[in-house]
Amino acid sequence: MTPPMRRRRAYATRARRASTGALVRAFSSSGAGGVLVPASLPDLPYDYSALEPAISADIMKLHHSKHHQTYVTNFNATMEKVLDAQAKGDTAAAIALQGAVKFNGGGHVNHSIFWQNLCPVKDFTPPEGALLSAINDEFGSLDAFQTKFAATAAGVQGSGWGWLGYDKATGRLAITTTANQDPCVTTGLVPLLGVDVWEHAYYLQYKNVRPDYLKAVWDVVNWKDVATKLEHAKA
Ligand SMILES: [Fe+2]
Repeated sequence: MTPPMRRRRAYATRARRASTGALVRAFSSSGAGGVLVPASLPDLPYDYSALEPAISADIMKLHHSKHHQTYVTNFNATMEKVLDAQAKGDTAAAIALQGAVKFNGGGHVNHSIFWQNLCPVKDFTPPEGALLSAINDEFGSLDAFQTKFAATAAGVQGSGWGWLGYDKATGRLAITTTANQDPCVTTGLVPLLGVDVWEHAYYLQYKNVRPDYLKAVWDVVNWKDVATKLEHAKA
């Protein structure tokens, strides 16, 4: 295991221990039984530098170890408050926390999908099989899909996400966006591919030129993961 990977794993383990203790304490103090398992920062399946030159190691390290970790930490802290409110029978207080649950929980869910959707340049393979057929059926060609996706994601006002999703009702693919950290499922689509268009995802390398980032990201899309997600969505 490389030193950076070891450090990340140790960091994630400490975070898990810290947040687990907090949640178990909160849950026990409510007088209810059982244990709520907190969210934790997932390890990346590649090194921080593995997505270069498309996404720099500096961005990946900051994005994963700081930004994503903060969503996890804040989500667990918010859930602790929700449990406390529920234990006290304070429904209004629990409801008031739902915005923070959605934002921080969404940040955790979205980034977890994003990391899976990416792969080192050396492992890149283009889409094929059922996924490629679905893309061609819906958008005409892979190029046409990528052009439409990039234009749609570039048009997100402020911070948010671009998505390729699967509509279970129609059996079709669709491109959509969400604001802030709203998860893709809030649009009714199953997320297959999510691209983070918050400035923290590209500013260190691409400054304010979001379209350049959206052009480069195709070099590190893990189409095998997208295909697996489509397979599961159809099941
Ligand atoms: Fe992000």
